[in-house]
Amino acid sequence: MKEINRCYLCYDAECTKACGVMEPDRILRSLYFDAGHVARYKLPEDLPCLTCDGRCGKSCPAELPVQKIISELHRQERPEESINYDVLKTDFLGIPLENPFLLSSSVVASTYDMCARAFEAGWAGACFKTVCLMDIDEASPRFSAIHGDNHRIVGFKNIEQLSDHTLVENIDIFKKLKKNYPDKFLLVSIMGRNDEEWAYLADVMNDSGADALELNFSCPNMTAENTGSDVGQIPELVEHYTQIVTSHTKLPFIAKLTPNVTHIEESADAAIRAGADGVAAINTIKSLIEVDINPKDGIINASIGGYSGKAVKPVALRFIAELSKDPKLHGKHISAMGGIETWKDALEFIVLGADSIQITTAVMEYGYRIIDDLRDGLALYLAENGYSSVNEIKRSTIRGIVSTDELDRSYLIYPKFLREKCVGCGRCYISCMDGGHQAITMKDKKPVLDASKCVGCHLCVLVCPSEAIVSSNIKVPKKR
Ligand SMILES: Cc1cc2nc3c(=O)[nH]c(=O)nc-3n(C[C@H](O)[C@H](O)[C@H](O)COP(=O)(O)O)c2cc1C
Repeated sequence: MKEINRCYLCYDAECTKACGVMEPDRILRSLYFDAGHVARYKLPEDLPCLTCDGRCGKSCPAELPVQKIISELHRQERPEESINYDVLKTDFLGIPLENPFLLSSSVVASTYDMCARAFEAGWAGACFKTVCLMDIDEASPRFSAIHGDNHRIVGFKNIEQLSDHTLVENIDIFKKLKKNYPDKFLLVSIMGRNDEEWAYLADVMNDSGADALELNFSCPNMTAENTGSDVGQIPELVEHYTQIVTSHTKLPFIAKLTPNVTHIEESADAAIRAGADGVAAINTIKSLIEVDINPKDGIINASIGGYSGKAVKPVALRFIAELSKDPKLHGKHISAMGGIETWKDALEFIVLGADSIQITTAVMEYGYRIIDDLRDGLALYLAENGYSSVNEIKRSTIRGIVSTDELDRSYLIYPKFLREKCVGCGRCYISCMDGGHQAITMKDKKPVLDASKCVGCHLCVLVCPSEAIVSSNIKVPKKR
């Protein structure tokens, strides 16, 4: 299954065209997005591969052993439950959502056609690219990335600002979207430069077709003073601008917060005090991910910008956990985003207390089609675990997230070595020697653990390239 990471996730995939019986590309995509249960569910009981010459693999530009992967998957148990999207139904401040998945405010939700295609693909709604009264003139190029294995984007940096359509053009888009997709949810992000602009934008959005508003207090790429993340970093300003919107809007609204702070709850509380119905987090993290070390030809558009994608998920989870624990936010809407790519990522945010899920970077990398595995993966997981609604699992884990002083330090958990998988590379030995507690020795090219020295830190589990070390998950009382 490791092979799956090499899949190019092609548009108009050759494997599916070559097969002609089923859609191998959709099966591979489910595996790629951590939805093995969905991939197995999609496979027909009578697998045509058994009598085929493997033309799917022969046509694959990445030379993936497609037939072998599918045959192996077929040997696994098929989920007994079926996929029913009704379990995903939820709401955004009382407005029905067919599922919790929304495009987040950005380029992915910046035109009528883009939103319409996303809605057709199955997204429950979109937070439209931030609308403003500024004259937006974007820099080029405006994106950069850190890549992981097989060129997967791990971290993504942008220096993009706000919608470059006029207000009139944007309102036309909202009206048309609402007319043609009345059951889809339209959240509109707004940003003003001063009191008058916040008031004006809030006023005009009342009859624009928007279902709700998101106040952008968090874009890190703004040039105008007291806009974007400059606001989100100062609770007094958050409160001030929120109050203005409260007194001008008829719509429910949330405040989108910046992660470029130490205590996000301070801005969240300020927004709620001033009348917001909830919060969204996180916007992008201020970052500089590459430096030209040989700038002979002059540096091109190097600037601190906003970091997003998989790499920011841990930061986003931390902030959502803190917001979810904040008593002032109980009963308020929490819309979560930051590095969500798979249904499992989304589930982690939901069990921490997220009411809706927003996504940009994964859509930029893989397209609107990721909604297939977000929906199927979550719906099948809920069915397999006996839940009848996604709302039943909200906040189910939050009590387990404790501060470091509350951690139970009375036990340790040893690693478990899977001898048959061990290739004898000694990486665990090196890490334990130089970054751990010298508890591993090598004997006959295999690691041996000295339990009297092991502190159960699990560094060996994390570094083993052949996944031959796992956690034993057994709590052993510490000897003191
Ligand atoms: C290219 C790009 C443009 C963005 N533009 C906006 C914007 O106009 N308004 C806004 O509130 N957030 C904007 N964001 C932030 C995203 O909505 C989102 O909060 C952030 O990227 C984290 O989610 P992700 O990891 O799924 O991308 C933008 C992000 C990217 C990558």
